[in-house]
Amino acid sequence: MSTSTQHTNDTNSNSRHDNDEISVHLCEDNVGRHASHTDLIIATLPKSGTIWLKALAFAIINRSHYPSSSSSSENYHQHPLLTISPRDLVPFVDFKQLYPDNRLLDFTKNSTNHDSPCRLIATHVPYPSLPESIKITATNCKIVYLCRNPQDNFSSLWLFMNKARAMPMLNNNNASLSMDEAFDYFCDGVQEFGPYWDHVLGYWKESIKNPDKVLFDKYENLKKEPKTQTKRIAEFTGCGFSSEEENQGVVEDISSLCSFENLKNLDVNKNGTWRGTIQNKEFFRKGEVGDWKNYLTPIMIKTLDGLMKEKLHGSGLVFQNYLP
Ligand code: A3P
Repeated sequence: MSTSTQHTNDTNSNSRHDNDEISVHLCEDNVGRHASHTDLIIATLPKSGTIWLKALAFAIINRSHYPSSSSSSENYHQHPLLTISPRDLVPFVDFKQLYPDNRLLDFTKNSTNHDSPCRLIATHVPYPSLPESIKITATNCKIVYLCRNPQDNFSSLWLFMNKARAMPMLNNNNASLSMDEAFDYFCDGVQEFGPYWDHVLGYWKESIKNPDKVLFDKYENLKKEPKTQTKRIAEFTGCGFSSEEENQGVVEDISSLCSFENLKNLDVNKNGTWRGTIQNKEFFRKGEVGDWKNYLTPIMIKTLDGLMKEKLHGSGLVFQNYLP
C-alpha cells in the first residue's frame, strides 16, 4: 500500500502490478482456483465507507449465528463486530504486504470459526481489473459496490492520507500533502486505485449491464435511509429478511450495530492499530455527508462540479444528496 499519491504513470504501473498479484493470489492461494459461487465481494474506493459496508455485510450474512441486539438474544455480546475490526472480519485481497509472511489471508477459513454462508472478500481494485473468475457470469459470486460523492471522498482521503504519511513506518518522512497538491492529484486521476471517475463508472456501468451481479450503492443513500439500504443489500446477496425478522426489528438492530456512533465507540475501533499501521480510530472520523464544505475552497468546489458534470455526463450516475 502506498501512502502517497503518485504521478499518473507510476499509478498506472502500480495498479497493473497490484492487479496481477491479486489475480494470482485470489485464484490460486486464497480462494481455491477460482472465486466461488457464494463469494460476496465488497468493492469500494478508499474513504467511501468501506468499513461500514464491511460491518453491514458481515452482520447481514452471519445474523443467524450472531444476533445483532442484546434485547433479542443473550448471545449478542459474542457478536464478532464488538471485538474484531470490520477490516479484519472482511479482509482485503489488496494488501498482501500487511499480512504475516506477506501472504494474504486464507479466505477458505473465516476469522470467526463458524461456517459462514459465504466468504466475504474486500477490494479497492477497479472493476475491469478484477480477476475473470469474479467477473464471469458463470460464477454466481456477487459484488456490492459503495461509492461516495467526490467532494467528501476527496476531503476524507486527503485528511486520512496526511495521518498515514505522518507514520514513520510508512516511510514518508512525515511530509504532509497540501490540500492544493492533493486536489490536483485527485482531479488528474492520480490515485492509488486509479481515477475516481473511472472507478465509480466501471462498477456503475456493470451494475446496469448486470444487476444480478453488481449492486451499486451510495454512502449518501446509506446515511439517508439505512434500513432501506440494509434490506436492499440483504436481498441482493440472497439473504433477504423474512417478515418475522422485520417484525422483530432485526433490520433496525443491524443498522444500529453498524452505525457510525456505535462502531466508533467500541474499544476495538478506538484503540490499537490496524495490522501495525494506522490507528484504528482513524477509520472513524466524522461519518457525515457534506463535511467537504469545511475544507474545499470556492474554486475547488467549482472545479469539482465541472469535472463531475463532464465525467458523469450521459452515464445516468448522479449525486443528488451530497449537500449538508
Ligand atoms: P470521514 O472521513 O468523512 O469521516 P473507508 O472505510 O472507506 O476508509 O471510509 C472511511 C469514511 O467512512 C470516514 O469518513 C469514516 O468516518 C466513515 N465511516 C466509518 N464508519 C462509518 C459508519 N458506520 N457510518 C458512516 N460513516 C462511516
